[in-house]
Amino acid sequence: MKILIVDDEVSIVESLSGIMLDEVYTPLAADCGERALEIISAEHVDLVLMDVWMPGLDGLETLAKVKESYPHLPVIMISGHGNIDTAVQATRAGAYDFIEKPPSYDKIVLSMKNALHLSQVEKDNLILRQKADKKSELTGSSEPIRQLKDSISRVAPTDAWVLITGEHGTGKELVAQSIHRLSARGGRPMTEINCAAIPEELIESELFGHEKGSFTGANTSKRGKFDLADGSTLFLDEIADMSLKTQAKILRILQEQKFERVGGSKTIAVDVRVLAATNKDLTAEIAAGNFREDLYWRLNVVPLVVPPLRERLGDLPELVAAFVREFSGKGVGAKRFTAAALTMMARHLWPGNVRELRNFIERVLIMTVEEEVTEDMAAQLLGLSESGRKNTAAACGQEGDAYSGLSFKEAKRCFEQDFLRTRLTANDGNISRTAEQLGMERSNLHKKLKQAGGRGI
Ligand SMILES: Nc1ncnc2c1ncn2[C@@H]1O[C@H](COP(=O)(O)OP(=O)(O)OP(=O)(O)O)[C@@H](O)[C@H]1O
Ligand SMILES: [Mg+2]
Repeated sequence: MKILIVDDEVSIVESLSGIMLDEVYTPLAADCGERALEIISAEHVDLVLMDVWMPGLDGLETLAKVKESYPHLPVIMISGHGNIDTAVQATRAGAYDFIEKPPSYDKIVLSMKNALHLSQVEKDNLILRQKADKKSELTGSSEPIRQLKDSISRVAPTDAWVLITGEHGTGKELVAQSIHRLSARGGRPMTEINCAAIPEELIESELFGHEKGSFTGANTSKRGKFDLADGSTLFLDEIADMSLKTQAKILRILQEQKFERVGGSKTIAVDVRVLAATNKDLTAEIAAGNFREDLYWRLNVVPLVVPPLRERLGDLPELVAAFVREFSGKGVGAKRFTAAALTMMARHLWPGNVRELRNFIERVLIMTVEEEVTEDMAAQLLGLSESGRKNTAAACGQEGDAYSGLSFKEAKRCFEQDFLRTRLTANDGNISRTAEQLGMERSNLHKKLKQAGGRGI
């Protein structure tokens, strides 16, 4: 455990460091508030012992800054000029305790032990809450989901890096959370980073950290996500959006579990398990020169593919029930979907997958007053018109006048949607197989399905 002692008086720093060593803690020292903030941002510190009166940034100001960025880091204030006012102010600002100088050995050790214990209990609580959070359960019992859950339980206890692929909204993040939770690292929080959300020039600093002054704006040293995830799991989301240079660094960590901060020369060794996810086709990205093939093969030791919702429509009733449970009680009442409504919903392609379904259920619960959601109500909220539905449901040629009243263009569109829907259903929602059968490019079929998605093809 690392204890940071912040005091401008050398004798106090020395005597407190001695106590830390006796108690088998690692002492770190800072002679002013600014230096203390630098150390906290660059290293993992477990507790701070800080003087109130210091030149420059004083103890209370430093305390406020620490609490702003690290609310869970326990801070004990020490002061030679102890008065009730300062003590109250410090405690209000988030200090765990206030001890008068000269600090007695017993008092300081007891206060530190209590603070560290409380901080551990808080961390445990956070993890328990995450575990109990039903939202992170993968709902569904269809064959593809059963296989996925099976693979998750096999791969979770190992330390293998996992590549999770699947379309938007299929549940890749949920899969990553499940793997982490079921692993030996599950006792610590998982660190996440969305590579697509961070500007290219900052991603290396986010992942590996940087040293003070390594680039404009780097006013303090900063620990990166790999550092923060030491002993735990790092979830790299949207991995295809990383530059080739960052990919090269990732590959090195994969091989050596070592890296350097941006602008730094010290090699940092970490023990991190990486779970990566993407909705892009990495083989196509490799062909286009955007993704390193060696990294792909390294990551792809354990590939997990999360199936799109249209390939597991059997899970629809279970998912609907789960989302109704999740949303009801949050200001909206529970509702029941009729069998006809569920059947109609199973004809929709759900291009946005489970996320689209979840949003749809929330919309239905908010927008309808009735307790029972009928086919018509669901169709209306899905944006399907009466004639559109009739025409989409009609098999070509079986209902002679199914296209009556429609223009040639509308009829052609209805036929196309109906045709593609029927073929896709016959192929269990598998786009590649359907495209092959129909002699179409997969991307072209995908585009057409996407265009028709909202209209319930
Ligand atoms: N099997 C499932 N059971 C319950 N909820 C699910 C399931 N799959 C996905 N969800 C829910 O759907 C939403 C989208 O899931 P998630 O964010 O994991 O998808 P994703 O694959 O990471 O999407 P994207 O590629 O857009 O990042 C979340 O609210 C998630 O809780
Ligand atoms: Mg995601």
